[in-house]
Amino acid sequence: MANVTVIGAQWGDEGKGKIVDWLASRADAVVRFQGGHNAGHTLVIDGKTYKLSLLPSGIVSGTLSVIGNGVVLDPWALRDEVAKVEAQGVSITDENLAIADNCPLILPLHRDLDGLRETAAGKGKIGTTGRGIGPAYEDKVGRRAIRVCDLAHLESLEPQLDRLCAHHDALRAGFGQPPVDRAALLEELREIAPFVLRFAQPVWKRLKKVRRAGAKILFEGAQGVLLDVDHGTYPFVTSSNTVSGTAASGSGLGPNSTGFVLGIVKAYTTRVGSGPFPTELEDEVGQRLGERGHEFGTVTGRKRRVGWFDAVLVRQSCAISGVTGIALTKIDVLDGLEKVAICTGYRLRGKVYDYLPSHAADQAECEPIYEEMPGWSESTAGARSYADLPANAIKYIQRIQELIECPVALVSTSPERDDTILMRDPFVD
Ligand code: GDP
Ligand code: IMO
Ligand code: MG
Repeated sequence: MANVTVIGAQWGDEGKGKIVDWLASRADAVVRFQGGHNAGHTLVIDGKTYKLSLLPSGIVSGTLSVIGNGVVLDPWALRDEVAKVEAQGVSITDENLAIADNCPLILPLHRDLDGLRETAAGKGKIGTTGRGIGPAYEDKVGRRAIRVCDLAHLESLEPQLDRLCAHHDALRAGFGQPPVDRAALLEELREIAPFVLRFAQPVWKRLKKVRRAGAKILFEGAQGVLLDVDHGTYPFVTSSNTVSGTAASGSGLGPNSTGFVLGIVKAYTTRVGSGPFPTELEDEVGQRLGERGHEFGTVTGRKRRVGWFDAVLVRQSCAISGVTGIALTKIDVLDGLEKVAICTGYRLRGKVYDYLPSHAADQAECEPIYEEMPGWSESTAGARSYADLPANAIKYIQRIQELIECPVALVSTSPERDDTILMRDPFVD
């Protein structure tokens, strides 16, 4: 298997960025295939921290980085991010960054609508990142999107603007907002167009060439399976498919290109935003894990909700996304706990479930069934070999492996790139 597809197997923030960066030096291209700048991927290299939202995590190691058609792209956010990362000493050119010319744009009107809807939603609030992700995907499917390639044809944008504004002006009126200022929008697009067009191309063609040459492609998922619009905790999800299969459709390669599917799994569970979370801890253990794990959103700075490891959810994610092996991250955050618990099933109205039911109300009522294990007082932080891990940490990892029915390929023991234990190389498997 020459290619590797990295996906989050929980509710996002599992540590995908760190693992993608670690694998990127052995890949010839890193490809983002869904999501947008709702993602926040953190890389720590020799003490220096990089926070990426839209740029693929390969960019820091200089690997060809591709933004595929499945992504929704906010061109102004991209320009800011490129400037920020360049100021940290990373060179970004049309040699190492390619953007699909059929990628739909996130416009200021999408961000407006995201905010207006959330404010109006009351108890039904999803807790989005407010980046306009949902409205942009709606416009893509509704065939009203302005795409990267349109930036080279702004003189003939009028019919598309008619269609886009007919839809948005009606919605905006409902929220008491003025209609879209078409002239201002066109001007903003004109101003940003040269920046984006520098990187724009039919990336499927570039990737086909890369593949033909026998090169290795690393696909970088955003969010996680439980935020998938079909398979996640609907409606408290994002608006794209986050599962591994999207790597193919979101980049323009066939389904056989996904290769080894590496599910990134945190050694406990976190979630940002609203929605069911069976193993959520609202006690001092949760507080402690949140503090030790620095569980604050990379994008919005919101405090992440924290809970015990949920093997039911991860087993389900691994099955749905065809995970070949997992990378278990942040095991060091559990250091020093007297006991650790793993959720092995749910009790719902007197019945035991070995999966998460589909309805949000049932999900919210699921009571976790826990299996307790002794913790470890030794440190795992910075361990780079399996033999360096305390016996009880090894038992915990082995138990997780059994319960989720999927092998552990990597273990991550700190935010630093090289504090990673390799058990099974996804590129040579
Ligand atoms: P992503 O969205 O999946 O890329 O994950 P985020 O970057 O949003 O969140 C993961 C956080 O955990 C980041 O701050 C990482 O630097 C950090 N991190 C990643 N792996 C480890 C690990 O093994 N141990 C610790 N302590 N932190 C880690
Ligand atoms: P990474 O790639 C964690 C969550 C939001 C909200 C829901 C919908 O860093 O793992 P959206 O703005 O997408 O419409 O919000 O999805 N969410 C994430 N949570 N990590 C992410 O990305 C997320 N991207 C979106 O908090 O609950
Ligand atoms: Mg994140």
